[in-house]
Amino acid sequence: MYYPDELVEEVRAKNDIVDVISGYVRLQKKGSSYFGLCPFHNEKSPSFSVSRQKQMYYCFGCGAGGNVFTFLMEYENYSFLEALRFLADRAGVELPEQDYSQEARQRADIKAILLEINKEAAKYFYVQLKQPQGKHALTYLKDRELGDEALKSFGLGYSNKYSDDLYRYLKSKGYKDEHISQAGLITIDEKRGVCDKFWNRVMFPIMDVNSRVIGFGGRVMGDGKPKYLNSPETLVFDKSRNLYGLNRARTARKPYFLLCEGYMDVIALHQAGFTNAVASLGTSLTPGHAALIKRYVSEVYLTYDSDDAGTRAALRAVPILRDVGVTARIIRMEPYKDPDEFIKNLGAEAFEERIRKAQGGFMFSLKALEKDYDMASPEGKTEFLKEAAGRLVEFEEEIERNNYIEATAAAYRVSYEDLRKLVAGTAVKKGLAAPVKRPRPTQSQEREKEDGIRKSQKILLTWMAADEHIFRQICKIVGPEDFDEGLYRTVAELLYRQYEEGEPNPAAIMNHFTDEEEHREVAGLFHTRIRELSTAREQEKALRETVKRVKLHSIEKAMGRNTTSAEELQKLVAEKARLQNPAELHISVN
Ligand code: GTP
Ligand code: MN
Repeated sequence: MYYPDELVEEVRAKNDIVDVISGYVRLQKKGSSYFGLCPFHNEKSPSFSVSRQKQMYYCFGCGAGGNVFTFLMEYENYSFLEALRFLADRAGVELPEQDYSQEARQRADIKAILLEINKEAAKYFYVQLKQPQGKHALTYLKDRELGDEALKSFGLGYSNKYSDDLYRYLKSKGYKDEHISQAGLITIDEKRGVCDKFWNRVMFPIMDVNSRVIGFGGRVMGDGKPKYLNSPETLVFDKSRNLYGLNRARTARKPYFLLCEGYMDVIALHQAGFTNAVASLGTSLTPGHAALIKRYVSEVYLTYDSDDAGTRAALRAVPILRDVGVTARIIRMEPYKDPDEFIKNLGAEAFEERIRKAQGGFMFSLKALEKDYDMASPEGKTEFLKEAAGRLVEFEEEIERNNYIEATAAAYRVSYEDLRKLVAGTAVKKGLAAPVKRPRPTQSQEREKEDGIRKSQKILLTWMAADEHIFRQICKIVGPEDFDEGLYRTVAELLYRQYEEGEPNPAAIMNHFTDEEEHREVAGLFHTRIRELSTAREQEKALRETVKRVKLHSIEKAMGRNTTSAEELQKLVAEKARLQNPAELHISVN
């Protein structure tokens, strides 16, 4: 779907960025900007800045940045359209619906209905838990040492013993059978008619990252089977792309997540102060989960059950996480079964200690491998080391591989040199030995030059956006067409046009980019502080050199094009000569 630029800009302009972000981050005014703790990385002193004047945010720590749309896309995990709709709604701007395809609208509508139904059901279960008929469920949860705070923040509830009272309740609210069934809350049986899916269970609402209820897990109180009954996948419930507890964990301000197996583990950990705990939804970890995790942290501590199944699950999770660039460490729960039991018996401090002692994923996998070998015999140990060498080969980066060779050698008391040779030999056998890297000077020099030009173009844009006086002088020498095609050219064209029509509007420029990386880069352009770095004379000198470099690059590029006519070529030569004259390049910064 496509909305006109003017409408997008109207929505943006009607949502002041300081007001919107204040809803999520505590901001304090400092000079012309507002500062707070960055919600996108872990930090102790505020480097996250929001400018009312520019209508942009930028983090000097992690480089996150953008306009009000970007913020919601990053923070709420919204798509651009979702952010647009949210902000249109917030500002009371009506979005035309006609270009929304019929089918897409229906789907969106059904999703919204299913979310509503889930929310109603969660409320219903929650209320049931506090009624006389929910007393034994409440007792069950209290016996499992859950406090009121935990019950409330996770919205735990109770589905009572009648086989269709949730159904009747939802009907009374006006929802259709079809939708209640699509939400996975009832089963329709020929003989028995309509039946609630959950019956006499304690209920764990499952929320997405935006705290919308997307499904449920229900646990029997006692030994019935199945122990946990989960909602089926629905239009709004994708088990491989959501994590239990993520809505809370993402604001935990820790650089890693604790990933566990069960809902109860997550709740027990949160209650003990480990608010960065999450769990998958009754399935094993998928690449979708890993990608989701990567949005928030780059390290995960696996706190899986201490039994064989838990160990196997952890071993499977390590490479899945590794593939998306998340490193895994493993926390052992022995002598207890899982984090919930561990915390109950040994408390939070002992758990902290286990976190500190967590083993890296690789060493953990070797430890598990030992079980397949007779480590007491020389033959067994040799075979084991050969297998280990085969795994060490997989580390592509030499320094990383060597570090692991060193750690393995130390752990299994063999010499580093011997193990290194074994690994090298294995590599040759497997045909994996990395080819010797020869330096390729021409290419890298060219790259450097290119980076240098890009940097100059970037600096120039930064200056021009920040200071109209400077812009007016530079625009006589450098035009938008002098910037390389792509992001900088687009920014330049927009910036020049904005100056022509009035004032620069950095946040509006952002509307023209859809990609998160581009938003960061553009936001970076408008938040670089050059002025404070030097005296006026130094600045003027740097500016002259930058202008010259950018213009020269553009002239040379034009000269190299074979579409350039003889006449144009002459002009370019003259321009180039002009650049050698310092008077032509006079620029004053005040
Ligand atoms: P408690 O016994 O309540 O402490 O459970 P737990 O949190 O320790 O969970 P457990 O380790 O037994 O299982 C981990 C997760 O697997 C649960 O949170 C459920 O999501 C899922 N699960 C467990 N049992 C069943 C089951 O019988 N059926 C299904 N579909 N999922 C289950
Ligand atoms: Mn448990």
